[in-house]
Amino acid sequence: GAPVEVDVSKVELGGQVTVPWRGQPVVVVRRTPEMVTALDTLANELRDPDSNESMQPEYTKNASRAIKPEYFVAVRTCTHLRCVPLYQPDKSNELVEGGFYCPCHGSKFDLAGRVYKGVPAPTNLDIPPYSYIGETTLLIG
Ligand code: FES
Repeated sequence: GAPVEVDVSKVELGGQVTVPWRGQPVVVVRRTPEMVTALDTLANELRDPDSNESMQPEYTKNASRAIKPEYFVAVRTCTHLRCVPLYQPDKSNELVEGGFYCPCHGSKFDLAGRVYKGVPAPTNLDIPPYSYIGETTLLIG
């Protein structure tokens, strides 16, 4: 499949845009500074906090799982059986901090797509290869 260009300048802070790439949805979340900071507080509740068992390009294997912390890019399919998780940016019954909630069997992920302990999904959300071709223009693939 061809790479997909995404202009993220119009995504509101705390919002997301989802685009198709190679037959799967890819989500770009524009994280607030508070959302990025909160990532540091969750390690004990996550199955793979440092993403050692998960799929991502080497250049996103860092604390925010991103090239630029403000923009989180991931394949929006649950690593259990590939349902599309709901985006829940705010604290909720399911999530102590915002993140993604999979309605199929209840897997939970934080705002870096890191899976919580005690749910069916075995690994963090996959991150596709991507790069910046402009200040706010991404190329997925
Ligand atoms: Fe998401 Fe099973 S497919 S929890």
